[in-house]
Amino acid sequence: MDFSNFTFRQIEAETEIKSFDCGDTDLNDFLISDAKNYLRAMMALTYILEDNSTDKTVAYYSLLNDKIVFDPENKHFWNKLNRKIANNKRRKEYPAVKIGRLAVSKDYSGNHIGEAILLQIKHMFATMRRSACRFITVDAYTAAVPFYEKCGFLFLSEKDKTSKTRAMYFDLINFIN
Ligand SMILES: CC(C)(COP(=O)(O)OP(=O)(O)OC[C@H]1O[C@@H](n2cnc3c(N)ncnc32)[C@H](O)[C@@H]1OP(=O)(O)O)[C@@H](O)C(=O)NCCC(=O)NCCS
Repeated sequence: MDFSNFTFRQIEAETEIKSFDCGDTDLNDFLISDAKNYLRAMMALTYILEDNSTDKTVAYYSLLNDKIVFDPENKHFWNKLNRKIANNKRRKEYPAVKIGRLAVSKDYSGNHIGEAILLQIKHMFATMRRSACRFITVDAYTAAVPFYEKCGFLFLSEKDKTSKTRAMYFDLINFIN
């Protein structure tokens, strides 16, 4: 695949959004109909990867602030998450950034684009010097869980084992070290 014609940008009010199909109607509709509403409401920022040799959007993701909060019913998961945090820095909640949505077009999937996007997000927040952020969170569709696991994400809870989505996280300290 020729990546030389790919460009990456953040969606602004005037951005023209090219067609997109990842095979999931909700994710497609969000990009085309809702991403700018979320921008206006200051509820999520959306980033797009475009292939300038076509009239297509290759992939997109949206981000918003988040936090991970201690759940006494999930002590086992919390202990695992806490292990890399120094004793005197341990809290009942930690700063995070949430991947609200992430999707790669069917025409481009399987080319490590999703993985490259996660790498970009990890880099963006691990090196950001504006506001501290320790974790990336995502409510992963069940079908996408193996993808996030391959990219180093862990489960946050067991409670959602049979749900349509699983709460997962990535510890950004792993990216720095
Ligand atoms: C899930 C998705 C983002 C993956 O993007 P992608 O660019 O196709 O994935 P990549 O090529 O970067 O995959 C990286 C690795 O994860 C694996 N992988 C990707 N999707 C997978 C899946 N659904 N199940 C199992 N493994 C998967 C790949 O085989 C690859 O493994 P490898 O390193 O051993 O070759 C994309 O398929 C997609 O948009 N799906 C539809 C929407 C969706 O489910 N979004 C997630 C919402 S939470």
